[in-house]
Amino acid sequence: MAKLDILTYPDPRLHTVAKPVAEVDDRIRQLVKDMAETMYEAPGIGLAATQVNVHEQVVVIDISETRDELQVFINPEIVWASENRKVWEEGCLSVPEVYDRVERPDRVRVRALNEKGETFELDADDLLAVCIQHEMDHLRGKVFVEYLSPLKQNRIKSKLHKRERVRM
Ligand code: NI
Repeated sequence: MAKLDILTYPDPRLHTVAKPVAEVDDRIRQLVKDMAETMYEAPGIGLAATQVNVHEQVVVIDISETRDELQVFINPEIVWASENRKVWEEGCLSVPEVYDRVERPDRVRVRALNEKGETFELDADDLLAVCIQHEMDHLRGKVFVEYLSPLKQNRIKSKLHKRERVRM
């Protein structure tokens, strides 16, 4: 298994719209394994394929304290979202050290394929609902900071640019 490189905002590749997975085969299962390993090592609670520069609709999530409850969502769709919305403080592996408040529906029902290519539906609330929506945004080419004001987005961009300059 290989740990994958995670793209960092504002890398333009993060705005690529992911294509549906045509067939859940060994290549996709390997991608899921590599993404899970990358997420656990980061460490993070969710990762979308977009973030590792693979533009297919694959998401891995593990919100458990014990880090042993991997959830895989291939070609996920939100089939229902609550009218009730809630604000959470979000962070992202592609936007290091930035956390900010985003409002989203507090409950969603998602339909997706698992690693065997079987369709399932899941009702999610709280952190899982937030995480699913956050990762599905990545698949649409959207990073959570785009919900913030233009002023905040510019501050984040310049902060991350500086950080990169220091690294060189
Ligand atoms: Ni993210």
